[in-house]
Amino acid sequence: MNVDIQKEVKPGKIDHLFIAVAENDHVELPAWIGKAVRKTIENARFEGRADESITILADEPRKISLMGLGKKDALTIRGIRAAIYSIAKIAKKQRDTTIAVVIPYTAGGLDSEAMTRFVADHLAQGDYKYDEYITVKKNGDVPSIDATVLATASVEPKRLRDIRDQARAISAGVHTVRDLGNAPPNVITPTRLAERAEAVAKESGIKCTVYGRKEIEKMKMGGLLAVNRGSAEEPRFIVMEYSPRRPKKHVALVGKGITFDSGGISIKPAEKMEEMKFDMCGAAAVIGTMQAAAALELPIRITGAIPSTDNLPSGNAYKPGDIITMMSGKTVEIVNTDAEGRMILGDALHYASQQKPDHLIDYATLTGACVVALGSEAAGLFSNDDELAQKLIECGERVGERLWRLPEWDDYKDLIRSEWADMKNSGGRWGGAITAALFLKEFVNCPSWAHLDIAGTAYAEHETPREARGATGAGVRVTLAFLESLSR
Ligand code: BES
Ligand code: MN
Ligand code: ZN
Repeated sequence: MNVDIQKEVKPGKIDHLFIAVAENDHVELPAWIGKAVRKTIENARFEGRADESITILADEPRKISLMGLGKKDALTIRGIRAAIYSIAKIAKKQRDTTIAVVIPYTAGGLDSEAMTRFVADHLAQGDYKYDEYITVKKNGDVPSIDATVLATASVEPKRLRDIRDQARAISAGVHTVRDLGNAPPNVITPTRLAERAEAVAKESGIKCTVYGRKEIEKMKMGGLLAVNRGSAEEPRFIVMEYSPRRPKKHVALVGKGITFDSGGISIKPAEKMEEMKFDMCGAAAVIGTMQAAAALELPIRITGAIPSTDNLPSGNAYKPGDIITMMSGKTVEIVNTDAEGRMILGDALHYASQQKPDHLIDYATLTGACVVALGSEAAGLFSNDDELAQKLIECGERVGERLWRLPEWDDYKDLIRSEWADMKNSGGRWGGAITAALFLKEFVNCPSWAHLDIAGTAYAEHETPREARGATGAGVRVTLAFLESLSR
């Protein structure tokens, strides 16, 4: 959806005006709504319960919908986001081409400016659908929607453009992540992922260096090479560098780029294996975040590091019992080839630590155990820095992306102790998300590190009240909020 932010619109140019209303609250009708329509709305006895909506056929604009938000004192970012998604869905279904949206509330401690940006950003994503490979569009070509967010009185007119540009920048980053994540694994191979990273970098004025197998061998990235051994595709190690003029901080972002995870020799069951195309969503989050950060011109130096391969069985594949020497020199006994993410991330975290960033954050669809623990409502957060963890959680709350902290206590380390090497690559099912995080920690040399296990949040199995099925863009907004907090 194309979004704009204005103080007012010409009613005659709007197909459909959407107004969000909290329960039994006064309906905030724009001044230009005529008397007759006002009367109709009053008579409709709309209560504003969450999920309640009515549409009134009017003249100018042609339709007005009231969208219920539920109790005013219980408004949340997530509730407002659900309403935005409903608006987008209704507009799409009714084939509106021009809509205007009024959400005269705020939540989660956002000021009216931040709220306006939130609405515009999410509205822009509201009609997202990955239909690249649908050759027969069901209802003919769906028209694209132009949406105008009507800013409330407290937003300064001279700020409208900036807010709009920021919303577009964030939304474009999220869009990149969703497109990359949803693309099929025969298309997004490590080589193609690297090409896409290069293309984004070029457009954004970011430096991008792509290392191929020879160079990865030279860097001794044993973990990445081991996982890649079963694949017909070459591995890639992608480094993106955003260097603004006077950076306030240096942050390194690492993303898991498994373009397809079959499990390898420890092969996964067939059911839902196709979902393992999403196993590069961490990598995509790094690319999308950097794209948006550059567009927002954040004064933070950002280094992105992405190890990429697929994980497949073959006569050459790495196997249980193998002992692998990682880039850091540490040795790993393979007990399960399906615990491949930590193998490639171990090397990337070692590499990123060498850049001496102030903060190091990694994003990975790392464990099914994390999905068992938290479902799809929150990503697992692990950190060696309480302050960083707290900040990330708060940033997550502001953007509606929940993070829930899990421990990385050494007490769990026994589970990944190996008889034959420095550690083994899987600690089994007990505390599976925690032992995975502890494994990663062995390769981190940075006092301020955070690991986000986004296995449950990176893609939606079903359409949810807030987004279409498929890649969600998890990680982007929370990271941008964090980077913005460092910018102040
Ligand atoms: N990519 C998977 C994790 C995953 C599972 C992501 C479900 C999204 C949804 C990861 O590589 C994996 O296979 N992890 C194993 C680890 C185990 C072998 C220790 C898992 O979670 O079962
Ligand atoms: Mn796996
Ligand atoms: Zn995986």
